[in-house]
Amino acid sequence: MEALEAILTRKSVRQFADKEVEQEKIDILMKAAMSAPSAINKQPWVFYVIKSEEKKAEVNKYVTFGKYKSPIIIIPCTNSLNAIPLAHDLMYCDLGAATENILLAAHSLGLGGVWCAVYPRKENMKKIAKAIGAPLGVMPYAALYIGYPSEDDKSKVKDKYKEKNVKVI
Ligand SMILES: Cc1cc2nc3c(=O)[nH]c(=O)nc-3n(C[C@H](O)[C@H](O)[C@H](O)COP(=O)(O)O)c2cc1C
Repeated sequence: MEALEAILTRKSVRQFADKEVEQEKIDILMKAAMSAPSAINKQPWVFYVIKSEEKKAEVNKYVTFGKYKSPIIIIPCTNSLNAIPLAHDLMYCDLGAATENILLAAHSLGLGGVWCAVYPRKENMKKIAKAIGAPLGVMPYAALYIGYPSEDDKSKVKDKYKEKNVKVI
């Protein structure tokens, strides 16, 4: 799938088929994530791929508006060790770019997924960090539920283009 086609046809998928995601596809998702731009190329990230049912259930307790049932959950995390000292918060921009790359790559591979908020809810971030065994300085940013879309999935691509949101000056 062409990049532009993937961008224009991506949608959030929240219902998944009972089918495993192949490791080769997970590897591509990770390559896509780490191909994202990051401020001064610091790459202040770590990605947890959760396959274990037990861990998924534990993480689900702390994703306030998530709790979907998917074959894998990817937790992109910030890694403070690689953050820019005087511009620490730029790592959240870097993570946003990496997270969207994962969703676009998933879509182009025939998978679907949804980005569920973890950051900036500090309490949930801490609890998920503990659940996944993240070391000090590594904090969950989002929970991405990923898998093959279920046949029951009724989600549609939304046309979100609004001319009024473009200002040409
Ligand atoms: C920062 C962020 C947080 C989100 N959090 C949730 C969430 O907690 N639960 C959920 O079901 N969807 C969540 N979404 C998905 C949005 O609801 C979805 O992207 C939006 O409705 C537009 O639909 P689309 O992705 O199909 O274009 C989140 C998206 C973003 C970017």
